[in-house]
Amino acid sequence: MKHLLGIEQLSREEIEAILDRAESFAEVGKRDIKKVPTLRGRTIVSLFYESSTRTSSSFELAAKRLSADLVSIKAAGSSVDKGESLKDTVATLSAYEPAAIVIRHPYAGAAQMVAEWSEAAVINAGDGKHEHPSQALLDLFALRRRLDSLEGKKIWIVGDVLHSRVARSNLIAFKAMGAEVTVCGPPTLIPRDIERLGCAVSHSLDELDEADVVYVLRLQRERMKESFIPSIREYVTHFQIDSRRLGPRQILMHPGPVNRGIELSGDAIDSPQSLITEQVASGLMVRMAILYELLAVGGERPAPPVGDESPPPTPIGQPA
Ligand code: CP
Repeated sequence: MKHLLGIEQLSREEIEAILDRAESFAEVGKRDIKKVPTLRGRTIVSLFYESSTRTSSSFELAAKRLSADLVSIKAAGSSVDKGESLKDTVATLSAYEPAAIVIRHPYAGAAQMVAEWSEAAVINAGDGKHEHPSQALLDLFALRRRLDSLEGKKIWIVGDVLHSRVARSNLIAFKAMGAEVTVCGPPTLIPRDIERLGCAVSHSLDELDEADVVYVLRLQRERMKESFIPSIREYVTHFQIDSRRLGPRQILMHPGPVNRGIELSGDAIDSPQSLITEQVASGLMVRMAILYELLAVGGERPAPPVGDESPPPTPIGQPA
């Protein structure tokens, strides 16, 4: 695996290898010294053109826990503000010979373009409405820890599916692991032909009881240039998940950030069924595993210069 551009490109075996690797980083995370030397001397660029709290912080912490050198760029406040193009920004940062570039961009396909322009391994941290593969992997990891297996489980993805890269990546990932997926929301927020991805579609929560997992999506008002719902109040009435709609055996998930009081009520967020905090914690372990798989296992390392005595990738059991 040279890049992580989308879940679509991963086999079930590759997904499981990343999840197994993340499990070993969970063990490292319990130690007093949580850092390993695996990526010592290698550089990781984190390049975010859209706002982020979870993805940027967990990739940056993952790089530091693996002892990499980190360059963190947010488009706001960088030379992007002065009109520098994505291509020129990537060329500039490539001068540091990064081993990996983690990129979030509003344009679907941006990560693929960066992969074509750079020698680095490219990780798609969200490209427009297209994909958010590391989110899907961390969600699988959090769910696997709670349920063991997704085989035959019913997962409902509820909310603004139309604008959601998480919906697309997770639908593909859940299906790959054997789950049955239903997407649910008002017709204006469900993409036409989404059934082609192998899911069922519902425009009401009437049959939500059948779900083992209720995966709620944020209403992405920043991506809505027209009116997709009559009003927030009506959306809340018909689609908000609250503690009355959530059964005691159901697991509640949300990728964050949550519009508290819109797609989720406060009591649902804070309920025992909520896996939201575990999702965030899983992000660190899974993103360490992604960097490890790309750079220490599957990445093509250039030959070291003559006389270089740097060690081969270190097994993750050894502290830095
Ligand atoms: N889920 C997710 O991508 O969150 P951030 O936007 O905070 O990174």
